[in-house]
Amino acid sequence: MSFSTHILRCTGCGERIAAADAQSNFRCRVCGDLFEVEYPWSEGAPTEAEHAYSASRPTPKNRPNPSALRYLWQERRTSTLSIDQSGVWRFRDLLPIVPNDHIVTLREGNTPLYEMPKCAAALGMNWLLAKHQGMNPTGSFKDTGMTAALSVAVAAGFEWVACASTGNTSAAMAAYAARAGLRSLVLIPDGQIAWGKLSQSMDYGATTVQLRTDFDGCVRVLTEIVARAPIYLLNSVNPYRLEGQKTPAFELLEQMEWQVPHHIIVPGGNLANCSALGKGFAEMKHLGFIHRVPKISVIQAEGANPLYRSLHDNGGVALEPVAAHTHASAIRIGNPASWKKAVRVLAATGGWCEQVSEREIALAKAEIGAEGIGCEPASAVTLAGLKKLVADGRVGKEETAILLLTGHTLKDPGYTIDFHRGELLSESELAGATESELAQHAQMRRQPVVLDPDADSVLRILDSLTVQTSAPLPA
Ligand code: F0G
Repeated sequence: MSFSTHILRCTGCGERIAAADAQSNFRCRVCGDLFEVEYPWSEGAPTEAEHAYSASRPTPKNRPNPSALRYLWQERRTSTLSIDQSGVWRFRDLLPIVPNDHIVTLREGNTPLYEMPKCAAALGMNWLLAKHQGMNPTGSFKDTGMTAALSVAVAAGFEWVACASTGNTSAAMAAYAARAGLRSLVLIPDGQIAWGKLSQSMDYGATTVQLRTDFDGCVRVLTEIVARAPIYLLNSVNPYRLEGQKTPAFELLEQMEWQVPHHIIVPGGNLANCSALGKGFAEMKHLGFIHRVPKISVIQAEGANPLYRSLHDNGGVALEPVAAHTHASAIRIGNPASWKKAVRVLAATGGWCEQVSEREIALAKAEIGAEGIGCEPASAVTLAGLKKLVADGRVGKEETAILLLTGHTLKDPGYTIDFHRGELLSESELAGATESELAQHAQMRRQPVVLDPDADSVLRILDSLTVQTSAPLPA
């Protein structure tokens, strides 16, 4: 690709390469770490004098102007152009990675920021907000990254794209590949992804391969495949995915009228999302849009907690992969690719990594559902984790916290139904639950009832509920 507006900088050793020189696995030839996209205006980018020595570096341009961009981004909202309507490409001035005519968009982004009054009240907080990335075209936050990286694949002339996935990346990739007329290969762990996600990749026409292994095993196989065949890798080691996934940070700041929240709470799986948001907020600060960044905290499931362990065992210097187990299948990941980037984001923003149990995730998911919002299990770790951060004072009750809800509740209806039927958690997962925890679960459960088709039977149910809640029935 000769479109030189950016270069790739290794986040490990600092090596800079031209975009066209990236290896198929997007790892640095020198140290094996991951790259990030660097623009002439990026913090630490080479100066003009240094630039003279390297033809691979993009020509330095004027630093983007925050007031002009804020106005332009707002203006684009009223445009009829698809790239202006996209909540990713509306911000394209800060991700000039492909020429406009190669952009593949489904009008992703533009996701709502919801108030969560019941959850806030339960936590004793003044207010709590949730940015629902599950409201993207394929039902997860992955669309924001996929539109970016898949557009780069189109510009580079690839015919095939591929990813290993716990289900959402594959759904997003399959959709965007279909829109672009590319062929897509999905590798997923056999029997371990939610039906909603599997059905999407089939519907969008991907070649879907279920491997008898876990997510981490799928990644290993795919890395070999892209080394042997001309297939473009769309896992989040691809730095362009993160360029798209940084834009919810911009959109959120816009929605907050440029008031910086104190905390962003993100689920942690392969750890790309927290890294991307960290980059987005850091760029906003570097360019002068904001004066400080929010604390970004990552929440993992106890059974899939390699980052949590790494931080507790050795301060994030080394990461020991784990065999991952959690009902939140999206984050059932034991060897996260972007863990070093995540450690840097936590350190740079002052956030934390917490772990939460299966019981805590299930309850939090039901509570988010009871707000009339809903999310998939992996997203609910954010509320479960926030409870811990509030309980020990790391998040103040008067502070502004934003939960990043990553997936739509319809992605994994099996989990939801099992919870409400009381069939989700195993005996060992329930062992050790306190009385109050069990009572909270029981209170959130909404079992469907099967009745004979007569009005009296239904009204008797309403009567029994009226007694239980002592709330008057509407006249
Ligand atoms: N939430 C949902 C709904 C996800 O699908 C994922 C990751 C995450 C959170 C974690 O984000 O990996 O950036 O830390 N899903 C990937 C997939 C791995 O293949 O769909 P992360």
